[in-house]
Amino acid sequence: MTQSLFITFEGPEGSGKSTQIKLLNNYLTSRGIETVITREPGGTPAGDRIRSVLLDKDGGSLEPETELFLMLAQRCEHLRKIILPALNAGKVVLCDRYFDSSMAYQGFARGLMLDKVRSIHQAFLPGFLPDVTVLLRIPPEKGLIRARHGGQKQLDRIESETLAFHQKVLDGYNAVAAEEPERYIVVEAEGEPEEISKKIIVELKNRCQELF
Ligand code: TYD
Repeated sequence: MTQSLFITFEGPEGSGKSTQIKLLNNYLTSRGIETVITREPGGTPAGDRIRSVLLDKDGGSLEPETELFLMLAQRCEHLRKIILPALNAGKVVLCDRYFDSSMAYQGFARGLMLDKVRSIHQAFLPGFLPDVTVLLRIPPEKGLIRARHGGQKQLDRIESETLAFHQKVLDGYNAVAAEEPERYIVVEAEGEPEEISKKIIVELKNRCQELF
């Protein structure tokens, strides 16, 4: 079956996006739907190198604008080389972070103007937005504990920001989701992964009947 659909997963650190992407992918592939799983920053060879510059703690601080432009640079590569070809081939693309991360992190939390972030995106990335965005909400203090994986994982440059920064990220997500309720599925991310996945699938079925 071919039915292209661009679904992005967003949320603060430790919100369980990758687990939810896996569960949704299992559901879709078990129904014969072809999927592509990808992520930002990254998704292409150049994008993965840009990811290291963005997240490596040893590289020191980055100016907010530098951070935004690097996010956009990796997104140009990702959109043109991975996302659009997959959609044109009739696949469902499941993407871990995209434009709304730039709004929440660079726009809200770093304090760049939201209109500027939006208009740069529209100017350089033909304003290409997902069909559906799943926002997994978790209080930042709980998400950061999860992101540390019980102390086994070192936090990267952005994860290491203050709790106040991560609270602004969550506030930013809430604001962008409220602006576009037709694109967003908002789910609380603290429960059992399987239960959360079921809720997401019910919402997706409501919105994308042609796919299910
Ligand atoms: P993340 O999904 O947290 O990676 P992992 O779970 O593997 O550590 O994403 C990396 C970071 O990039 C995260 O802190 C959010 C940040 N980010 C932005 O600040 N702006 C963006 O536009 C994108 C795509 C990500």
